[in-house]
Amino acid sequence: MTNSQLTVVGAGVIGMSCAWRAAAAGFQVTVLDPAPASGASWVAGGMLAPVTEAWPGEEELLELGEESLRRWPQFAAELEAAAGRPAGLRTEGTVVVATGAGDRAELDTLAAYLGKLGRAVERLSGREMRRLEPALGPDVRGGLSVPDDLAVDNRVLLAALRVAAERAGARFVERAARAVLDDGSRVTGVRTDGPGVDSQVVLVCAGAHSARLHPCLEGLVRPVKGEILRLAHRAGAFPPPSRTVRALVDGRPVYAVPRDGGGLVIGATQAETGFDTEVTVGGVRDLLRDAERVLPGIAEYALVESAAGLRPGSPDNLPLVGPAGPDGLLVATGHHRNGMLLAPVTADAVLALLRGDPVPKVVQAADPARFSLARR
Ligand code: GLY
Repeated sequence: MTNSQLTVVGAGVIGMSCAWRAAAAGFQVTVLDPAPASGASWVAGGMLAPVTEAWPGEEELLELGEESLRRWPQFAAELEAAAGRPAGLRTEGTVVVATGAGDRAELDTLAAYLGKLGRAVERLSGREMRRLEPALGPDVRGGLSVPDDLAVDNRVLLAALRVAAERAGARFVERAARAVLDDGSRVTGVRTDGPGVDSQVVLVCAGAHSARLHPCLEGLVRPVKGEILRLAHRAGAFPPPSRTVRALVDGRPVYAVPRDGGGLVIGATQAETGFDTEVTVGGVRDLLRDAERVLPGIAEYALVESAAGLRPGSPDNLPLVGPAGPDGLLVATGHHRNGMLLAPVTADAVLALLRGDPVPKVVQAADPARFSLARR
């Protein structure tokens, strides 16, 4: 694919990462989004956590995540240089903690799995955990330290990506894409809620909305709602943790991801209720109850925001990255819980596809052609 014009549909973390890389490589890039950086990427916790977000059995996703995590420090450094502002990477690491006996058994499984993969992981008692992270409460009975699972401030990152993409020459057009058009064999452009856009190469990065844009994507991406809370430390309250804290509380997962300046993102619920972005009372209650069991000091924090986003779920939890349907249609979507983590490797793969180069080996498992509907 050597056409030098590219239309990117969607200005979330994936769309803007691809737009930046493509524009920096000399492609003429137009990004279509009615409200850039406002979807799931805006609501994300920002964990860069291939190990603690994957489960035994999801080996291809884990490999993809590991590869992307390896690329993150350089991605962040290049982004900071290109944008002239921070990329938001945090390198303090992650702890995974358990409260009850059943939760500790799950941690044993995770520790064994991580050990088998050769990942750095340390099993710690409750007391050792509190020495490491004094914000953890007495209900924490033990856990794991996973120093190489990192985090990023999603909003800092999105701001940097927009600046870097624009500085590289990408043009943002605040219009909603309605459909990717083709003439039966090749892409011709994008129908929007305003004037259409002619384009022979279109990259769909529209997250949970991607499946609506072309028949070859029907049924391949679905919205998976996640609610989060944003808290802020107040004077006199117990200081927040410095690492990402993931916890199982009576079998329910909850996480707390620190931000600079005393912020803490608590997440996340998971529900399949269609295109619903209302925050529910039950969601807020569950998140606060479980987070407070692990980090009791948050009771004194300010609750500054609640929000819901729609993760783009795929049938097998792997993203869709590659050509699909008519010639000229590329997709980079379906990143589900891992959009922030997978942005660097996805953008590198998309750039390779645009240049006609081979994609990184680990991305081949994400080829949309694994689903018959998207077969070319
Ligand atoms: N990756 C965090 C979440 O999807 O909630």
